Amino acid sequence: MSETIKYGIIGTGVMGQEHIQNINLIKNAEVVAICDTNEGSRNKAKSLVKESTKFYNSLNELISTNIADAYIIATPNFTHIDVLEQILKTNKHLLIEKPLCTITEDCKKFQTLSKNYSKIIWTGMEYRYMPPVKKLIEEIHNNVIGKIKMLSIREHRFPFLHKVDDWNRFSVNTGGTLVEKCCHFFDLMRLVIQSEPIKVYASGNQDINHLDEKYNGKTPDILDNAFVIVDFENGVRGMLDLCMFAENSEYQEEIVAVGDLGKIETFVPSSASGRDSSEVRIGMRKDNFTKSIEVKVDKEILLAGHHHGSTYYEHLAFINSILNNKKPDVSLRDGLMSVAIGEAAENSIKENRVVFMKELNL
Ligand SMILES: NC(=O)c1ccc[n+]([C@@H]2O[C@H](COP(=O)([O-])OP(=O)(O)OC[C@H]3O[C@@H](n4cnc5c(N)ncnc54)[C@H](O)[C@@H]3O)[C@@H](O)[C@H]2O)c1
Repeated sequence: MSETIKYGIIGTGVMGQEHIQNINLIKNAEVVAICDTNEGSRNKAKSLVKESTKFYNSLNELISTNIADAYIIATPNFTHIDVLEQILKTNKHLLIEKPLCTITEDCKKFQTLSKNYSKIIWTGMEYRYMPPVKKLIEEIHNNVIGKIKMLSIREHRFPFLHKVDDWNRFSVNTGGTLVEKCCHFFDLMRLVIQSEPIKVYASGNQDINHLDEKYNGKTPDILDNAFVIVDFENGVRGMLDLCMFAENSEYQEEIVAVGDLGKIETFVPSSASGRDSSEVRIGMRKDNFTKSIEVKVDKEILLAGHHHGSTYYEHLAFINSILNNKKPDVSLRDGLMSVAIGEAAENSIKENRVVFMKELNL
């Protein structure tokens, strides 16, 4: 393989386009092939790539051309399992957008099918690479706050955007809000806490959003707010506070961890704010010690997506793994576990009870 990674993008809606824009910023990477079943999405992608990029409207055609080194799967959640089953025939490096699949069972099925796959399979969890989040994680893992005891993640944002054919309005297509959106945060919890979840209890509802919309006579059924508590094996507690009717919040995500020595927090500006700088703040329990670290993102990188620069850094890490034969930073197991915690949280709300992770036979 050459030192330039040739990408094929499968699905060029909102997220596929974000991938293209970020790959365009990387010197040793290029998009050589695009596959989307929707003409509108293919046309949007055309304006972002070189004239030489090949376009396909079926996955089989793309696969048979065999011109890419790596594929990005950015199709709707409910299509992932079918796309993945087909793409395994290619033996190319894969970056699969979150959530890996809509249900844990399909994640397990894919894990079994890909057991002997020799190339990288990477779950797309770019929040890990969001510069202020990455800095916060580094500080926690350097024991700056001592032994972590509590981790709380708040996401207050605008409602789900419209997607091609409105697939994101129904839980059967997405896995439910706590899988679709919040798998990112459950992945961060496992990464920060370095332990596995044992039980999940959640309260949530669809109180405001999409209740006046109808698709083929059906009203959307996706949660728009929830509190989720996750207890981990090492005794650490994680909590998610999600609200999706909080337009114009100053920060889209706020992450706070407290340990036996002190507290660390960061605030991620909403993408609408266009702010390129954020703060990681540390406050120690003793000596009135506080410290503020400014974290900046290059403007060009910031403008290449909606995730505070993180997709760019995710690609640098993916390429580094490919070129140096390294294990993926975000494994299939990580993808599976983030779906499983989301599914447990959805079940906890539906069934009004604590859900034990062992119920999911992981
Ligand atoms: N990592 C993140 O932060 C993040 C953000 C947004 C979306 N996503 C994920 O990215 C994926 C795509 O979401 P989106 O927001 O771009 O949705 P979207 O509806 O904007 O785009 C999906 C595209 O996939 C195409 N498509 C559908 N079936 C296909 C198939 N079989 N083969 C080829 N193309 C097909 C559609 O025509 C559409 O253009 C989802 O899994 C979503 O959860 C991740």
